[in-house]
Amino acid sequence: MHIRSLKLAYFSPTGTSASVAGAIAQGCGLEAEHIDLTREPVRAHPVRLGADDLLVLAVPVYSGRVPVLLEGWLKGLSLNGAPVACVVVYGNREYDDALLELSDTVREQGGAVVACGAFIGEHSFSSTEYPVAVARPDAADLAKGQEFGRKVLDTLNGLDSAQAARIIEVPGNRPYKELKPRGPLDFIAVSDVCVECGTCAELCPVGAIVDGAYTETDGSKCIMCCACIKGCPERARTMKEGFATDIARRLAANCAERKEPVWFF
Ligand SMILES: Cc1cc2nc3c(=O)[nH]c(=O)nc-3n(C[C@H](O)[C@H](O)[C@H](O)COP(=O)(O)O)c2cc1C
Repeated sequence: MHIRSLKLAYFSPTGTSASVAGAIAQGCGLEAEHIDLTREPVRAHPVRLGADDLLVLAVPVYSGRVPVLLEGWLKGLSLNGAPVACVVVYGNREYDDALLELSDTVREQGGAVVACGAFIGEHSFSSTEYPVAVARPDAADLAKGQEFGRKVLDTLNGLDSAQAARIIEVPGNRPYKELKPRGPLDFIAVSDVCVECGTCAELCPVGAIVDGAYTETDGSKCIMCCACIKGCPERARTMKEGFATDIARRLAANCAERKEPVWFF
């Protein structure tokens, strides 16, 4: 089949899912239209595809699932038989049910899942003190991303239509892993090296940091993505000692062994 256009949709507060998606687009060899779901206004726009538009959809794994805040945008997708490559990026612990959930959702929205992949990105909670999958995706991961993109295009070239693609089996369980309800979060410390540049507010995907009050974070909106911590040019934002550093410490101790990207066609 002939692919008319490539759309690259990703949610990526700390940039790893976007990097993987970019490598996949390179491998596809097509000019991509970027749909950056990290930006709140973009998530308000429903996307409609035709049967010969390819969608590469890349999201990070949050607690073994697709990030909850994408639910509304995903349910608004109108895919009309379009081929979709589903990609999850996880922090070297596990992707659990996220890839299954993403591919189920795409099918429910009328998409034809033609490929699935799970890649590794530096863990959102990784720090100098508690390093987890540091600097991933690295060159080898991005080369794998390109290879995945080439394979997606080769697969589609060999089909009459995306509907003719095999049903892809991916790891995971239904019902998906239960998400524990969480009260307001309070885990970010802001030191006095903060120069109130506002980068944190620009990077926050959920508007938890408001202009002019950069030392405060609205714990009822915060999703723990850590974009503000990792993106602070002054390194003024860190995790407070407590439940979040406990998780980071555990991850650094238990998830040190390198995992590799996998894909399913
Ligand atoms: C709230 C939250 C939950 C996470 N849960 C998982 C998980 O279950 N398994 C895992 O391996 N990584 C997990 N991660 C790490 C991210 O999946 C990983 O760092 C990813 O590369 C971040 O993507 P981004 O750079 O596109 O934001 C979690 C991160 C956050 C913020």
